[in-house]
Amino acid sequence: SIVSKQYRTAFHFQPPQNWINDPNGPMYFNGVYHLFYQYNPNGSRWGDIIWAHSVSTDLVNWIRLEPALSRTAPFDIKGCWSGSATILSVNQPVILYTGANTENQQVQNMAVPKNHSDPFLREWIKSDHNPLIRPIGDLNPRQFRDPTTGWLGPDGLWRIAVGAELNGHGAAILYKSEDFVHWNRTEKPLHYTNSSHVWECPDFYPVSYERNRGLDPSAPGSGKEKHVLKMSIEVPGKDFYIIGRYDEEKDIFVPDNEIDDYWMWPRLDFGRYYASKSFYDSNKGRRILWGWSDECDNSTDDVAKGWAGIQAIPRSVWLDGTGNQLIQWPVEEIESLRTNAVYVQDTGLKSGFRLEVNVTDASQADLEVDFSLPNLEDAESFNSSWLADPEGLCGTQNVSWRGVIGPFGLLVLASDTLDEFTALFFRIYRDQNKYMVLMCSDTTRSSLREGMDKPTYGGFLDIPHLVRKRKLSLRTLIDHSVVESFGGGGLGCITSRVYPMALVNGSTHIYAFNYGSAPVSMTNLTAWSMRKASVNQKSS
Ligand code: FRU
Repeated sequence: SIVSKQYRTAFHFQPPQNWINDPNGPMYFNGVYHLFYQYNPNGSRWGDIIWAHSVSTDLVNWIRLEPALSRTAPFDIKGCWSGSATILSVNQPVILYTGANTENQQVQNMAVPKNHSDPFLREWIKSDHNPLIRPIGDLNPRQFRDPTTGWLGPDGLWRIAVGAELNGHGAAILYKSEDFVHWNRTEKPLHYTNSSHVWECPDFYPVSYERNRGLDPSAPGSGKEKHVLKMSIEVPGKDFYIIGRYDEEKDIFVPDNEIDDYWMWPRLDFGRYYASKSFYDSNKGRRILWGWSDECDNSTDDVAKGWAGIQAIPRSVWLDGTGNQLIQWPVEEIESLRTNAVYVQDTGLKSGFRLEVNVTDASQADLEVDFSLPNLEDAESFNSSWLADPEGLCGTQNVSWRGVIGPFGLLVLASDTLDEFTALFFRIYRDQNKYMVLMCSDTTRSSLREGMDKPTYGGFLDIPHLVRKRKLSLRTLIDHSVVESFGGGGLGCITSRVYPMALVNGSTHIYAFNYGSAPVSMTNLTAWSMRKASVNQKSS
C-alpha cells in the first residue's frame, strides 16, 4: 500500500492509532495542561466514542493516560460525546459531557476526579445525579449536546450553554445552577440562528484586546467588554463566530452586528478545522483554542493508515484593535521546536519568480514571511458577488490564475519536479476606495494520488492600515500531512490536510513565489526546521 507512516505528524497532537475528533475539556490545573478528546478505541472510523486523556506541562510534549470516560452507564452507553471542564474552586475541576443514552437521546452528564492528589487526575467518577440535563419539551433529543465551560454570574449562579436544535434551528441553550448539579433552563436561549440546523460545540468567552491575553469568564470585574460566541456547523464543517456584548446581570448576549445568516459570520479557520474549544490558561493569563483537523483522504486509507484525525496546534486568541475580529496565533511554546534557522532578507519577487527556501527538513518546518506590497492602485477591481464565496474565488482564481497583485506566497510540500505542491497565497483587489485581501490555500495539486479530497480554501482578510503600511505577513507550519497558515498576523487562518507522494518516495521543497504581474518583495523570511515532539508515545 502507498499509504505511509510519512503522513503521521511530528509535532501535532495525535494518539498512536485510531480515530479522533473533537478536543474536549481542555484545562490548566495544578501545573498541568489536560486535553481530553473524542476517541474510538476500536478503529480508525468514527464510533464507540469515549474520552481519551493526555497531559502536558508545555502544550508541546504529551503523556498519554488511560481514557477518562468510557461507555459504562445507561446515560452514556452509546457514546461519551463532547464537553468541557470547569474549575469550580481552587481544587475542584469538573467535567460536563454529553452522553448518548440507551434510547440514543443526548443527555448532559458530570464527572469529577476520583483522587485530587493524583497530579494527572487519571481517574474520573461519574456523578450519581446523571443525567443532569435531559432533552425535554421543545428540544430535539437527538440534537442536544456539547456543554460549554461554566461561568459564574454576579448572582453567584453558574451558567452553561448547550448546543441544540430548537424548532429545527440551531441554538445555544442557557442553563443556570447553584451547585453545578441541578440546572434550570432560562427562558431564552443565549443565541440562535434561523439560518442553520443544530449548533455543535458552542464556545462562549470574554475576549481581550491585549496580545496573548485572555480573560477568566468567572472572575468578577473589568476587561470583559466583549464576548465571543462560536458554534460549529457540520455541513460545511466550519467554526463560525460573532463578537458582541454580554450583559452579565441579565444574561443577554447582543452581537455587534445582528446577522442571522451564519454563512456571513467570520470563520475561525477557512480550512479543515472543526469543533474547536477554548480555555482560560491561568498559567500564562491567556485564552487557548484547540481545534480538530480531520483527514482529506478516504476512509479506506484511514483504515490502512490505522489512524484518522489530529488536533491543530493550540492557538492563543485575542481581539484585534478594531474589536471586530479575532486574532489567532500558535502558542509560543511551539517555537521551542525550531531549529536550523534560514534567513532571506530584502529580496524582490519579480513577476513569475520562484525562490527556493533551503530548510533542512522541508516536511517539518515553520516559516514567517513579511511581504512588502507594490502600489495598491494597480490592483484589479473587486466584484462584490465574491464576498459570499471567497472559497469559490480561490478555486476559480487558483494558483495558476495570474493576476496583478498576486498570487504571491508559498509553495510547500513540493516535489522535485513540482508536479505536487500545496500553494498558500494572497491576492489584492481594489473596491472603490478600499482594498480587499484574499487569502487562499490551493491543495488541488497537493498529491498525485487519486481518491482524496483536494479542495481550495480561502477567505477575505481585513488588514488594518493596509494602504499606509503596504505590508502583509504569512506564517506557515508544515508537518507532513498538515499545513497551518496564519495570514496578516493571525487575522485569517487556513488549515489544510495533504498527502503528497513526494513524502513517501522522495523529498519535498519550499518556495516563495510571485505569479502576479506586479512585483512584490520579501522584507524578511525566516524558516526553521522543527524538531519532533514527544506526543503520546506508547509507554514501554
Ligand atoms: C462534533 C460532534 C459533537 C459530538 C461529537 C461526537 O464533531 O458531532 O457534536 O458531541 O462530535 O463524537
